[in-house]
Amino acid sequence: MTSTNSPRIAIVTGGGNGIGRATALMLAEAGYAVAVWDLAEQATEEVVSAITAAGGVAIARKVDVSKPEDCAAGAAAVVERFGRIDVLINNAGVVRDGQLVKVKDGQVVGQMSAEQFQFVLDVCLKGVFNCTQAVVPTMIAQKYGRIVSTSSVVALYGNFGQTNYVAAKAGVIGMTRVWARELGRYGITANAIAPGFIATAMVQSMPEKVLQSMIDHTPVGRAGQPDDIARAFAFLADEKSSFINGAVLSVDGGSVL
Ligand code: NAI
Repeated sequence: MTSTNSPRIAIVTGGGNGIGRATALMLAEAGYAVAVWDLAEQATEEVVSAITAAGGVAIARKVDVSKPEDCAAGAAAVVERFGRIDVLINNAGVVRDGQLVKVKDGQVVGQMSAEQFQFVLDVCLKGVFNCTQAVVPTMIAQKYGRIVSTSSVVALYGNFGQTNYVAAKAGVIGMTRVWARELGRYGITANAIAPGFIATAMVQSMPEKVLQSMIDHTPVGRAGQPDDIARAFAFLADEKSSFINGAVLSVDGGSVL
């Protein structure tokens, strides 16, 4: 995984569940010390326990990525414990779906609220900004870093009912490309992953018909699993992936929405 003798240090946001959990476990297995950040305290503790039980090193912290002060304090705690931050996996995310304007029988019956829009932007877009800004000074000082952020295939194709989420996930791609330009000179790469349909709690609330249709549009004929995305995170986080910068890697079974 690394050519240094001491372990690389990785932060995984939203690491308590789903894709983040799988990523924290996979990175720990690969030899990283992992800081698991999440709002869900119990889930976070469980991930850390699982890593520790397997002989790995991990710490849990309650961090709300939408709060800059939480991210700054979390980054300071990682530096205090491990002395550096090598990898940031920006994975925390939420959905609050709704149509821009909902029409029934020719009448407008609802719309996406300003609060609904802002909430998803605060976590999925500003959260990525907050966490990245919190760790980058440390990465610049050590002249090394890997920032991998979670976008989505919907940022590339759009998706019904997701104005807020698609705006945030498209913004993640934009920020990634800016950071690739700004930070590359310090040995820091910034890349994004665009997952397709991954079987986690986030998509469980979708109607069965919609889920089946998503599988039908996926050439490999199955939903993705959290490990499919964790593997891509681990690849882009690797020291040897140093010439991949500003890329958006689709991990979606070849699906076209
Ligand atoms: P999940 O709902 O299983 O896990 C998300 C985690 O983020 C949870 O543990 C939650 O507590 C945490 N979280 C939420 N708000 C937070 C906040 N403000 N601060 C810190 N942690 C917070 O979701 P899943 O499916 O594992 O998603 C992970 C990422 O992948 C998200 O960014 C999501 O948008 C993205 N994604 C997921 C896809 C899917 O099909 N599941 C497809 C494309 C992208």
